[in-house]
Amino acid sequence: MIATHRPEGDNTSQRIPPPRPRTPETALRPVDAGRYDARFASRAAGIVSSVMRDLMSLSERPDVISLSGGFPNTEAFEREVFDEVVEVVAREHLASALQYGPTEGLLELRELIVEIMAHEGARAGVDDIMVTSGGQQAIDLSIRTFVNPGDTILVEGPTYPGAVPCFTTYEARVEHIPMDDDGLRVDLVEEVLDRLHAEGRPPKLLYTIPNFHNPAGVTMSLERRERLIEIAHDRELLIVEDNPYGQIRFDGEPLPSLWELDGGQGWVFYLSTFSKILAPGTRVGWVAAPAAVLRKMNLGKQAADLCSSTVSQRFVIEYLKRHDWRDYVGRLNGIYRGRRDAMLRALEEEMPAEATWTRPNGGLFVWATMPDYIDTTDLLALAQDRHQVAFVPGRGAFLDGRGGHSMRLNFSGVPEAVISEGVRRLGVAVSEMTDLHRALGGEL
Ligand SMILES: Cc1ncc(COP(=O)(O)O)c(C=O)c1O
Repeated sequence: MIATHRPEGDNTSQRIPPPRPRTPETALRPVDAGRYDARFASRAAGIVSSVMRDLMSLSERPDVISLSGGFPNTEAFEREVFDEVVEVVAREHLASALQYGPTEGLLELRELIVEIMAHEGARAGVDDIMVTSGGQQAIDLSIRTFVNPGDTILVEGPTYPGAVPCFTTYEARVEHIPMDDDGLRVDLVEEVLDRLHAEGRPPKLLYTIPNFHNPAGVTMSLERRERLIEIAHDRELLIVEDNPYGQIRFDGEPLPSLWELDGGQGWVFYLSTFSKILAPGTRVGWVAAPAAVLRKMNLGKQAADLCSSTVSQRFVIEYLKRHDWRDYVGRLNGIYRGRRDAMLRALEEEMPAEATWTRPNGGLFVWATMPDYIDTTDLLALAQDRHQVAFVPGRGAFLDGRGGHSMRLNFSGVPEAVISEGVRRLGVAVSEMTDLHRALGGEL
């Protein structure tokens, strides 16, 4: 206690030692990390980080142009709308918004999700829906609910880099099925199923992103969707359809979801999120699945987080009740279209003739493939250190070491002029690697 009355000249207070400053990075003393190694669960030891998350910290470095994140343009969201919605939540729902909620999510939100799905032509009832903490948790719950260590799952090659830690956490054996401009090579699915059955490891499920694939940027054609559902029905294959980008369309007409084509037969589980149509900071997503599956997922969610944030759910509800989300998405899509065009233009100008890339009609990403002599993990090191530009190297989207010549480029997160400059810098890094290859006697 500091004395309030002190004789003149008494400087006791100055002699009271201040609290020991803590280092800003950590309050812990250095410990030998080996102490934990033998104790980590094998599950934790085997987890592979998502390259994407590793690169996320770069987005905070002001000197680096990041084409790596999957960032929606949250700057487009109007401050007045945010204020209004927060005000309504505070005035009309404060106590309940601050309270725990049901694990499956607030009923009002599930009703609104049914409407959003209907807008995409995907019919669901309110009891088919469970709210999750982002689409990411919906992926985690899908894998955790069905996959034992060593079970095989089918995924596209490339697949969503953020799903890789889910696959490795639950110790799935991943079989990639190649893609082309029309999405998953459905013609190869039966062949793979035959082989895996013969090897005694029939896959538990197929995880697919039919619309504006992350990272490939392509969309599964209608013909392939129909064929895939036929295969699912004939061969009793469970499908996890991840659809965060269905509404992020710049050109062309929407295609029916696998969920809808399944016709309520329960072979497809449908995942989506508010991250791309509203904001990723809400961390609100959902899964649509048959009751028997939702019951198990509900238990998994109870273990993970009891319920998704009720503050966030209430924010989403009040936003959806007061504003037409389709107007906002329309505005976002206009911005993204311009950014996509800027990226495609810049790639045309800056990349060598042997490079190829996808031309997405929606979503947030272009998948670019460099000549064989360029390894994009090496290219990233050069691009980051010498040219201050970052992207996601393709290996992060495969679990079998492939993808080494490809990269994911994001066009939603930065303005057009910055995209052009970022791709220009990337072009310089690529030509430096080409020169090096030539200097070492390599053929072009
Ligand atoms: C294909 C895919 N699934 C799921 C997610 C996770 O989204 P959320 O922010 O809702 O967790 C993303 C995010 O980028 C994604 O691209």
